[in-house]
Amino acid sequence: MFKLKILTREEVRQLVTMAQAIAAVKEAFLQLSAGKSILPLRTQVPVESQDGVTLFMPAYLSTSDALGAKIVSVFPKNVNKDLPTIHALMVLVNPETGQPAAVMDGTYLTALRTGAASGVATEILARTEASAAAIIGAGIQGHTQLEAVCTVRTIKKAWIYDSRLEAATAYAKAMKKQGGPIPADISVADSAAQAVREADIICAATTSTEPVFEDEDLKPGVHINGIGSYTPEMHEIPSQTVARSKVIVDSRSASLAEAGDLIIPMKAGLINEEHIHGEIGEIAAGKIPARESDDEITFFKSVGLAVQDVAVGELIRRQAERLGMGKEVEI
Ligand SMILES: NC(=O)c1ccc[n+]([C@@H]2O[C@H](COP(=O)([O-])OP(=O)(O)OC[C@H]3O[C@@H](n4cnc5c(N)ncnc54)[C@H](O)[C@@H]3O)[C@@H](O)[C@H]2O)c1
Repeated sequence: MFKLKILTREEVRQLVTMAQAIAAVKEAFLQLSAGKSILPLRTQVPVESQDGVTLFMPAYLSTSDALGAKIVSVFPKNVNKDLPTIHALMVLVNPETGQPAAVMDGTYLTALRTGAASGVATEILARTEASAAAIIGAGIQGHTQLEAVCTVRTIKKAWIYDSRLEAATAYAKAMKKQGGPIPADISVADSAAQAVREADIICAATTSTEPVFEDEDLKPGVHINGIGSYTPEMHEIPSQTVARSKVIVDSRSASLAEAGDLIIPMKAGLINEEHIHGEIGEIAAGKIPARESDDEITFFKSVGLAVQDVAVGELIRRQAERLGMGKEVEI
């Protein structure tokens, strides 16, 4: 018999701030790039009838002593059912005994740690005076993308663009209400061009298989976080933009296997593997340079890694232990 802690979405939400999640994800990226983690490529189980896929994502962080796995489903047709695209559950395992230690909602955790990854990249790569942000995609990820960017830079103006106008309008209202570091000045853009034209930081968080803005609309020196394309067929960032950017990835091996945003321009002969400048963990460790001029475009490509889930999940579990939150059941 052992005790298992169960944490609901609301408890997960209360137990960790975006700033804490950014610090935990940064630590996870450092351990990953330093060879201090075990991160098998995630196992994808497609469910063809729904165009859906369920991913099984395990990881171990040896310095943090955090072990676990997330099961996450991405079902794009859910948009038509008025349901989120993503549902997920996180399981943490005690690394001393192998006993399951906690189960928690993984849906908000996913949005939090995905926002946090862009927070880490933006903190390291965006120009320090960056003050205008554009978010493309008003879904669940889009919300935490803006929150993360506003946590690491003083954002005065934000644009939101979504191909569904009602989603963008609801997003602007919800984000204004959230307040904190998020500016009151959030505008719904009529087009992606209008959103990105003045942006110093862009987050693409869509389910698109076509580029979501035009290369010619970008400002010099913009920093881009691309989080949506996680299969070889998906494509959010124009290939010309990728070709003229400094490209930083979360994991070299995972992005070469999964990121259409890199695989498509590679197949077209526009870039090769050497075009990838490095991993964000290598830059965070000071092993390779970050931004080297105010004019260069930096592009962080995130496919999403289990080390992010394990790092933030373990932080939440420890906070819950400390504060006596969550429900404990004997298994
Ligand atoms: N990198 C990671 O770690 C990570 C983590 C979670 C999710 N994701 C991916 O991020 C993407 C977004 O996830 P979500 O949970 O927010 O999904 P969601 O369905 O809640 O939101 C996606 C939004 O994108 C909009 N959209 C689609 N195509 C568009 C286009 N061409 N231009 C503008 N808007 C467009 C949709 O209308 C929708 O509002 C998905 O592809 C998901 O798989 C990545």
